[in-house]
Amino acid sequence: MNRTDDITNLFSRFGESLDSYLEFDGDFDYKEKPLALVRPVSEPTAVLANSVENVSFAAAPAKLTVATTHLCATIVEPTQPSHQKIDVVADTVLLNSALEHDAEIQPAKTIPVCAPLRHLLAEVVLERQAEAQARNDEALRQSLPHGRPPKSKARVIALVSAKGGVGKSTLSAALASTLRLDGGQTLAIDLDPQNALQYHFGVDPDVAGMGNASLKGENWNSLLLPGSAGSLLLPYGSLTEDERRTLERYLDNDRYWLARQLARMELSENDVVIFDTPPGRTVYMDQALSVADQVVVITTADAACFVTLDRMEKLLGAPQARAQSSICSYVINQFDASRAFSRDMHEVLKRRLGGQLLGVVSLNHAIGEALAYGRNPFVEPGASQACQDMRMLSDRLEVQLKSASVAEIHAS
Ligand SMILES: Nc1ncnc2c1ncn2[C@@H]1O[C@H](COP(=O)(O)OP(=O)(O)OP(=O)(O)O)[C@@H](O)[C@H]1O
Ligand SMILES: [Mg+2]
Repeated sequence: MNRTDDITNLFSRFGESLDSYLEFDGDFDYKEKPLALVRPVSEPTAVLANSVENVSFAAAPAKLTVATTHLCATIVEPTQPSHQKIDVVADTVLLNSALEHDAEIQPAKTIPVCAPLRHLLAEVVLERQAEAQARNDEALRQSLPHGRPPKSKARVIALVSAKGGVGKSTLSAALASTLRLDGGQTLAIDLDPQNALQYHFGVDPDVAGMGNASLKGENWNSLLLPGSAGSLLLPYGSLTEDERRTLERYLDNDRYWLARQLARMELSENDVVIFDTPPGRTVYMDQALSVADQVVVITTADAACFVTLDRMEKLLGAPQARAQSSICSYVINQFDASRAFSRDMHEVLKRRLGGQLLGVVSLNHAIGEALAYGRNPFVEPGASQACQDMRMLSDRLEVQLKSASVAEIHAS
């Protein structure tokens, strides 16, 4: 067999034609520093390479044809030293330090070497775990009640944000203290595993809450605590990591999970539920969006929040992301009117959000201090600008809730 036939055969094994054959001299100029992959030609040579850039050549003269795929390597036993050469076959390469006798190529003796045993075992274990997880998820799905529960009569507000630390928990507590419909109760429910809402109500840490009740299948009413200004509070509760993961799998597997919990509470049409959520897209946010009559996105007047607006709008605008006929609005919190940049950002946000901008709450360091001392700054005497802003926001939300109720009555 002559050399051309041999190369043609070799290339056809990889689905390539002879046209793909390129021959380089040994002084090929590699742009990246090559790895030392080839041992002296007298020893068998193992190569692990994903691309030809990773292949290099020992100083010893040898003909090199390179071919490896991912984790599997080819060991090549050279029969005699010769000059260097590299053949590249698409993105699969065969390293073949073989002797070239005159124009004829000696076939390389190749021994496939597999990845280390621990990698293979890890692969098997991962597959087994994935199968077990899939079985558990299926069992969980089967055990869950199916179908959409009746909508809760209560008016539901969800506070969400793309970024953390913008004031969702602070404003949730403030709204719970200020927003009340005639004859109804206002409940603040913490859907955030940080479990921070309770601190805004001065509640002792480590009380049981929503998470604990949900895992035991108890009605959330049984764990409601007195909040401030006559409101009620349901903390997230103190859960272990395993418990939290289990709970989140419930939420992930049952899109009506939160609707179900609310339905069981049998709230009245004058009750208001305020959900505090974790930052960013989470199962808690998804659940809250699915039941909320009013979605309130909290933002701050800065670039970091501004760049998240597109993503948030896309998320909220996605079909089935929100409850039908829900209203979405935005609140700028921690607004510092003394700074020109904040005022400019406020103007930019006003233009961008238009009528969706429901309110602005001023920066007031007394709010952070009140949290530190376990006080609610929104029920304390003395009306700071932030308190006034908060009341205005609460009033606007109340108006929106009432008009939505009227619209629903007319529609039914
Ligand atoms: N209007 C405000 N003026 C001054 N400080 C504020 C204001 N609103 C919130 N803060 C402070 O900002 C910090 C973050 O507030 P908060 O915990 O309510 O944010 P969050 O959005 O709930 O955070 P996370 O995303 O981590 O849940 C707190 O220290 C809080 O006291
Ligand atoms: Mg929070």
